[in-house]
Amino acid sequence: MLERILEKEGMMNPQEVKEYNLLSRRYLTRLGYDKVINSLYNSGRLEGKVIDLGTGSGWLAIELAKRNRDYQIVGVDLSQEMLTLAKQNVSTSLNNYSNLSFIKSDVKSLPFKDDSFDVAVSYASLHHWGGNLLEIFEEIQRVVKNDGLVIIHDLKRDEKNLLFLKTIPSKIMRKLLEASVMASYIPSEIREILRRDPITSQWQAIESTMGLGIEGRVKKRRI
Ligand SMILES: C[S@@+](CC[C@H](N)C(=O)[O-])C[C@H]1O[C@@H](n2cnc3c(N)ncnc32)[C@H](O)[C@@H]1O
Repeated sequence: MLERILEKEGMMNPQEVKEYNLLSRRYLTRLGYDKVINSLYNSGRLEGKVIDLGTGSGWLAIELAKRNRDYQIVGVDLSQEMLTLAKQNVSTSLNNYSNLSFIKSDVKSLPFKDDSFDVAVSYASLHHWGGNLLEIFEEIQRVVKNDGLVIIHDLKRDEKNLLFLKTIPSKIMRKLLEASVMASYIPSEIREILRRDPITSQWQAIESTMGLGIEGRVKKRRI
């Protein structure tokens, strides 16, 4: 088994930010975000407040805003560089839709009141998150309402993904994605973490060809 090699949390390097923005705009709508969007649509939750955790240059949030004006979406990210691009992407591709905004924040400490959102989504950010994942899941549950949805998808750490990445022509992008694959989890690690808490143990760890997902509902502890 490949050993997990941690990656730095926020993506601030201007060259990497620029390359990642191009990659996500060109490919991820079809090859990655669709997993999150399909799960959200299949849940029947077609309106409400959505938080996109580690939104990067905002393309998942933009795709959701474009498809459904009944979502109010907030993208959060540690990286000001990414958020600056996200705002540019909104103004060039969406005519400044008013149902989308961005805030600089760490997923470990979200600047929102309890029960602010109906849904939390995320794509390709989980593997960056430092600290204790269960505490981060608790923070996500704090800002999502009871019975709200959590849909987090990411890459997974495996040899096949590394082989596939060798075909990518851009050296910067190849190195960046290889580092992301090496920092990603494998489904059994996620299952082991989810099992440690009575609420997250009800969540599902999902495996796909290139990635993995965590999906479940928020259940507030009532005293
Ligand atoms: C690989 S990018 C994915 C961006 C976007 N979700 C997408 O799919 O295009 C990972 C993003 O997560 C952000 N990130 C990493 N750790 C974070 C944290 N602790 N809190 C908020 N954002 C974080 C990074 O700054 C980066 O923009």
